[in-house]
Amino acid sequence: MSESTPPTNSPPTPRSAFNNWISAIGGVLAIGALFSFALLVWMDFTQGDKNPYLGIFTYIVAPGFLITGLVMVFFGAWAQRRWMIKHAATVPDKWRLNFSNPAQRRSLILFMIGAIGFVMLSAFGSYQTYHYSESVQFCGQVCHRAMNPEFVAYQRGAHARVDCVDCHIGSGAEWFIKAKINGTHQLIAYTLNNYSRPIGTPLKNLRPAQDICEKCHWPEKFHGNIDVSFSHFLSDRANTPYSVRLLLRVNTTSPGAPAGGIHWHVNQNAKVEYYATDDKRQEIPWTRVTNKTDGTSRVYRMESFKGEPPAGSIRTMDCMDCHNRPAHVFPTANDAVEAALTAGTLPANLPNIKREAVKAMMQPEITTGPEAAQKIADYLRAKYTGAPSLPAAIAEVQKIYAVSIFPERKADWRVYPNNIGHKDWPGCFRCHDDKHKTSAGEAVRSSDCSSCHTILAQGKGSEFELLNARGQTFKHPGGEVDSDLTCSDCHNGGIQK
Ligand code: HEC
Ligand code: HEC
Ligand code: HEC
Ligand code: HEC
Ligand code: HEC
Ligand code: HEC
Repeated sequence: MSESTPPTNSPPTPRSAFNNWISAIGGVLAIGALFSFALLVWMDFTQGDKNPYLGIFTYIVAPGFLITGLVMVFFGAWAQRRWMIKHAATVPDKWRLNFSNPAQRRSLILFMIGAIGFVMLSAFGSYQTYHYSESVQFCGQVCHRAMNPEFVAYQRGAHARVDCVDCHIGSGAEWFIKAKINGTHQLIAYTLNNYSRPIGTPLKNLRPAQDICEKCHWPEKFHGNIDVSFSHFLSDRANTPYSVRLLLRVNTTSPGAPAGGIHWHVNQNAKVEYYATDDKRQEIPWTRVTNKTDGTSRVYRMESFKGEPPAGSIRTMDCMDCHNRPAHVFPTANDAVEAALTAGTLPANLPNIKREAVKAMMQPEITTGPEAAQKIADYLRAKYTGAPSLPAAIAEVQKIYAVSIFPERKADWRVYPNNIGHKDWPGCFRCHDDKHKTSAGEAVRSSDCSSCHTILAQGKGSEFELLNARGQTFKHPGGEVDSDLTCSDCHNGGIQK
């Protein structure tokens, strides 16, 4: 058999076109990527329910490298063939890897060591990637620059140490898949730069409150009465302080007894449902309370609302219907300025600064963040020419603007209502307004000024020190207001109407 006879004095062995440096590097890249991919898939299946963004690395980045590697392998082979044909007579083997060539051997050994190192590093890299992709920095800064406003607001909230993923994602196969699909969808929108500004709420794919909030807070937890003070400043020349101190009746009965107080809505024995006519759930013409122990229910409706709400649009009230901004609250311009005045960082000795600061922040001409700094400075300079505390005031207003209003994303309090109270948005008054009635004409109970809270003290200076445990009637600072109006008819977080 002629093939088996060892060739004597043979010409150089015919070589594969794949034997070239480009293909070799591509091969190493592909092996490293394949290795990472396998590791990431494994992590994704074992731990991925906590981390949907891992999918981006697992199914997009790692395969991306794999494909790049493979493309290099084939490109190398193609280029090598062309080279061989073109330079057949001179140096067809220029790019060939050849161990028998002593000059190449050194670099080849170095290359092998490098390749092994690379594959090992890619394993380590995958592991780091896993941790990184679930970090708050990743959500808030890298991937989700779109979500930067939430990230900034979040750092100033009570949940600043709770990871984004703890509320937004969570365990369970169904939500895992939803989050995966949603994560990919978001990634595409982000890449194409066509995500919505502002990001729309309420979120349709947020997990139910039982799964999120109740991991850490349980409804039976007895909070008792919560004492809260609100420090305001009037829009007068002196920026007169005006504060309200309330005792909020969060749980009024003792632990173990039947529920009463504000957290009654989430007690085990009752179910409160409602129907909202708008996307933001601000207009609620219909609400129903069902006693889960005896099955009886009562419906309260606005007189203007006839018929029945579509069954698919009825929502059961949970934590998020009141605490809808638990982690990233966008403060109103009014609140942000008042907080700075309370802290003393905004000089209160400038006449009318409360009103002017709010106005400076709300100039309709501002369309970008950098522009805001300039426009705020111009506005205040024109009002307070030569005042010694002007530079401090400008710097402070610029600072509070930067952390509460995000013009590029169109994100601020005006698009994200907070439902916890009733001053700047309808909030509790969406149902507790004496306008929702049963067919027998009973209004939703607890709708008068002393049923949800007791006003312990109000006013300025020494007035605020006069505590009254029985509660006081609210004295509106601007004078008595028409009782047909609700607070949010005039208060909207900007300048009062
Ligand atoms: C304590 C729970 C919690 C944490 C922690 C949290 N969120 Fe949210 N987030 C919510 C809830 C609840 C909503 C839904 C508001 C609604 O539907 O009205 C929301 C809404 C959002 C929205 C939609 C737009 C908006 O502002 O309402 C974005 C974007 C968002 N969160 C991003 C983040 C990012 C980024 C982080 C981490 C830096 C984070 N969230 C941390 C609970 C949380
Ligand atoms: C991973 C645990 C965790 C989850 C999930 C969580 N919280 Fe919290 N929450 C905390 C901790 C811890 C605090 C206390 C922070 C402090 O006192 O500094 C807190 C504080 C609060 C407060 C008091 C806020 C304040 O301003 O003092 C409210 C209200 C609250 N959480 C509501 C919610 C709601 C609603 C959800 C679901 C959307 C939720 N939390 C999800 C851990 C969590
Ligand atoms: C009907 C509206 C409403 C619902 C529903 C509701 N809360 Fe509250 N919750 C309040 C109000 C009002 C307060 C008083 C504090 C405030 O005004 O910020 C409060 C206080 C709290 C506090 C204590 C804050 C502190 O400062 O100590 C926590 C924690 C809390 N709620 C968690 C929850 C969780 C978890 C759920 C769902 C199981 C829930 N709440 C459902 C209205 C509500
Ligand atoms: C979707 C409608 C709706 C919203 C929004 C709402 N409630 Fe209620 N609330 C009800 C209904 C319905 C009842 C029970 C009325 C009845 O049984 O007559 C109720 C009862 C109450 C009670 C009496 C509980 C007891 O001790 O028996 C309090 C207090 C209360 N709500 C406070 C609040 C506060 C504070 C807010 C805002 C943070 C709020 N509610 C928002 C529908 C609502
Ligand atoms: C259904 C329950 C409920 C009713 C009824 C109610 N409030 Fe309130 N009120 C609240 C809650 C909850 C807050 C706290 C909001 C927060 O934590 O930001 C609040 C806050 C306030 C504040 C402080 C707001 C601020 O920013 O300074 C005042 C003042 C106030 N209420 C007055 C009234 C008056 C006056 C009435 C009667 C017309 C009334 N409330 C009826 C639940 C209620
Ligand atoms: C008719 C419009 C109107 C209605 C309705 C109204 N307010 Fe006011 N409110 C004003 C005006 C105007 C001021 C400004 C007075 C000033 O700053 O000198 C003011 C000031 C305040 C302040 C102090 C300053 C500030 O910016 O916070 C509080 C607190 C307040 N109102 C609470 C309420 C509450 C709570 C309700 C609902 C029960 C309510 N207001 C209803 C017009 C109104």
